[in-house]
Amino acid sequence: MNVLGIESTCDETACAVVEDGKKILSNVIYSQENMHAKFGGVVPELASRKHCEVISTVVEESLGVASLTLDDIDLISVANGPGLLGSLLVGVNFAKGLSLSLNKPFIGVNHVEAHLIAPLMHHEAEMPAIGVVISGGHTALLYIPKMGEYQLIGETQDDAIGEAFDKVASLLGLPYPGGPKVEILARNGDPKKYLLSPGKVKGRPFDFSFSGLKTAVLYTLKGQNGSKETQILEEEKKDLAASFQETALNDILEKTLMAAQKFHCKSIIFGGGVSSNMRLRALFDQNQEIKCYWPEKKLALDNGAMIASLGFFEYKRRQKGDNYALEPYSRFHWNLSCRL
Ligand code: KG4
Ligand code: ZN
Repeated sequence: MNVLGIESTCDETACAVVEDGKKILSNVIYSQENMHAKFGGVVPELASRKHCEVISTVVEESLGVASLTLDDIDLISVANGPGLLGSLLVGVNFAKGLSLSLNKPFIGVNHVEAHLIAPLMHHEAEMPAIGVVISGGHTALLYIPKMGEYQLIGETQDDAIGEAFDKVASLLGLPYPGGPKVEILARNGDPKKYLLSPGKVKGRPFDFSFSGLKTAVLYTLKGQNGSKETQILEEEKKDLAASFQETALNDILEKTLMAAQKFHCKSIIFGGGVSSNMRLRALFDQNQEIKCYWPEKKLALDNGAMIASLGFFEYKRRQKGDNYALEPYSRFHWNLSCRL
């Protein structure tokens, strides 16, 4: 079964063709990064306009790379949330239009769940597993008894980890999206130079909080009274980046391992942009006790292949697609025990 996967939840317009949920025939990603960089973050109105402008070309290109035509597509899968509403509307309506004109089924899938499918496109993970969703919009630890079933163990109470990386990058004068740039700057920095503490949430050992850490970076840079002058030397910025990164990533490491032990998990599955951070991977690799499944680099950031793959498995499970009344949704909360 050839599935066309469409992703437009934020600032990537992406389309992929995946055969039987696993074999990637194409994976085309048009990133709007440069357009948003000058504003220091994603501008929702510009994002949706750009999606409109490029989506046909991205879909055509993805069919071209796969050497297929629309006639060869059996199912259209689209991320219908969570994300920016205007952006989602473009992908969802494009998918509906294709489905209607081709008389082929379409299905809406959850973007966050798709991030967790990405590492499993090339591996079978042993269950039960801990799912670690670390992206620009989400930070969550999930107990996964089997793929498709999720129980929320912990989540962020404020900023998502990717958002914290982006904000710290901006404080350090690095362009959007800052996560990868903080990682590069931190490589030559001393992570012990600044003593920063991870956020703790009273009575909720698996929850996260990154806003205090971000403020600590701000105070280190500008002092507590918000001086206009930067309080540290230019060459010390790498040490601050390293100290921030080490604190944030060790927080993920410790809470994930604690959850894996408590819930007797056999593996850990990572999803979302921050999972492409090599320092994070190294920290987990140093711990040989539990098998970790990481997405390939091109599947860690937003992409259409994970949407196509999840669409395939969802379609098989439900034995039917969605109807045209399907709406996009911007927000999503994991239930304590939920079947998506
Ligand atoms: O999963 P994703 O592409 O989009 C969302 O669903 O949010 O994640 C994007 C986020 C951004 O905040 C970006 O700065 C962060 O992932 N990110 C990283 C790295 N690469 C991307 N953060 C830290 N280190 C990285 N190497
Ligand atoms: Zn994402």
